Amino acid sequence: MLQYSLRQIDLDSFDFEKILIWITDPEAMQFVGFYKHTHQFTTLDQARDFFSQLKDGVFFGIYVEDNLIGWSALSRFENQTCEFGIFIGEKEYWGQGIGTSITKQVCRHAFKKLNIKKIFLTTAGKNLAGQKCYTKAGFQVEAVIPGDRTIFLNGAWHTDSTIRMAFVRL
Ligand SMILES: CC(C)(COP(=O)(O)OP(=O)(O)OC[C@H]1O[C@@H](n2cnc3c(N)ncnc32)[C@H](O)[C@@H]1OP(=O)(O)O)[C@@H](O)C(=O)NCCC(=O)NCCS
Repeated sequence: MLQYSLRQIDLDSFDFEKILIWITDPEAMQFVGFYKHTHQFTTLDQARDFFSQLKDGVFFGIYVEDNLIGWSALSRFENQTCEFGIFIGEKEYWGQGIGTSITKQVCRHAFKKLNIKKIFLTTAGKNLAGQKCYTKAGFQVEAVIPGDRTIFLNGAWHTDSTIRMAFVRL
């Protein structure tokens, strides 16, 4: 069985060479709202500057052995709420249960170690794998906002809905 792990890391220690490849990959980014900002990035500084918006966040690397395959983050902390994000950049690892398991682990960390009461996220209406993974981890849909975002799917820009989901600590 595939062994993977989660390690909390500082934003400064991230492997921005890999991250630059991932955030400019049209397939990896097909449902990710911020692709419209990153698709033309060419330098590590652009990637670093973009992520520095989230400098108050808590970041985790997702590893298979010592190989970084993606990241997850908790950010935008306010009144015991925060935002969850996940990105598996190495596509051969999609669909093997890693996203669901990491979502559960990071949310458990938020509830137990950071005393968060409610975690929210937004995703694209067409991102069915993401929605399934979040639902299995404990998130529920709070709102569907039609025509709210632009995604790059099959080589063209499309308008899609935003699904807002929340995971409330019991
Ligand atoms: C979205 C993402 C985190 C999901 O992680 P993952 O490890 O691939 O997902 P999992 O294997 O845990 O589970 C996904 C579920 O969705 C299902 N799924 C996968 N692709 C699907 C598709 N195209 N349509 C419907 N369901 C799909 C899987 O079968 C699985 O359900 P199951 O366990 O009932 O079989 C990951 O694919 C990813 O990082 N993608 C790129 C970046 C991204 O989209 N990030 C999220 C932005 S909000």
